[in-house]
Amino acid sequence: MSLIELQDVSKLYGFGDATSVALDEVALTIESGECVAVMGPSGSGKSTLMNMIGLLDRPTHGDYLLNGRRVSRLSVTRRAKIRRDKIGFIFQSFNLLGRLTALENVALPLLYKGHSMPKRNHEARTILERVGLHDKSYFYPRQLSGGQTQCVAIARALVNKPELIIADEPTGNLDTESSRLVMELLGEIHKSGNTVIFVTHNPELTRYATRVVYMQDGAIKYDEQTKLGEVGSYARKVMYAVPDTTEDDDLAGVSALMKIEKPNEKTTKPKKKRARRKATKKKTTKHKATS
Ligand SMILES: Nc1ncnc2c1ncn2[C@@H]1O[C@H](COP(=O)(O)OP(=O)(O)OP(=O)(O)O)[C@@H](O)[C@H]1O
Ligand SMILES: [Mg+2]
Repeated sequence: MSLIELQDVSKLYGFGDATSVALDEVALTIESGECVAVMGPSGSGKSTLMNMIGLLDRPTHGDYLLNGRRVSRLSVTRRAKIRRDKIGFIFQSFNLLGRLTALENVALPLLYKGHSMPKRNHEARTILERVGLHDKSYFYPRQLSGGQTQCVAIARALVNKPELIIADEPTGNLDTESSRLVMELLGEIHKSGNTVIFVTHNPELTRYATRVVYMQDGAIKYDEQTKLGEVGSYARKVMYAVPDTTEDDDLAGVSALMKIEKPNEKTTKPKKKRARRKATKKKTTKHKATS
């Protein structure tokens, strides 16, 4: 049985002519223990997908099975309970409470579970130790660096011992060194047996993943198994992407717009390329990395 099974899940916003499709019949299965990097342009539906998997949102159409249980139609309260017990969230903006210390922030989810104060503090301290921040327990978020703040947020996501960690651009607000620290930590969490799904715009970070899912226009365009430590082959293409038109092509396009076209004039080259790109646009490719 798979941990996550999305069955043709769509998410629509608005209605009538103003409807926008954030997810377009997404079918996605994730097994326990995978570490999945989700990539794709801005607005392609990555956060919507994370919110769907993390039970923060409900599909407009389609079904979602978590551990074989149909969760897409559950009540708000039931979904909240599953979220609390099984899922840890990490966001780009950290989402820590500024009036609470690192320790109090990490212990907060246990308060909602009804644990006693000594138990909460003990568990929170253990997790802070695990992320290397036990000496910062009594610091407030404003006294921590961006990387340390995100590690506290990760500690808070881990304190309930969730089996699934969802991180939406966890390194989006961090410099290169802090990003590495945070990703090393997520990598360790994955290696210790958790399922991790993270969104990133940085192809380099697919090195921490065992699979890369690439989204476009609300759909999965590409889905690739990768080896830990290697950049996925599709991600590598994005990394070293070179435009497939030359400056001359662009100039030809501009001058074609500016002059009145004569019947025999050669303007076919740019048109051909556009048609080819259009034909490949909607295709979803499954690929197993060979390198
Ligand atoms: N609450 C909402 N109401 C209306 N439209 C929404 C809402 N949330 C998302 N959308 C739309 O759904 C589409 C997907 O948005 P989403 O936030 O999932 O993109 P994303 O891939 O996470 O982008 P980014 O990389 O910029 O974070 C966008 O067109 C967005 O405008
Ligand atoms: Mg997003």
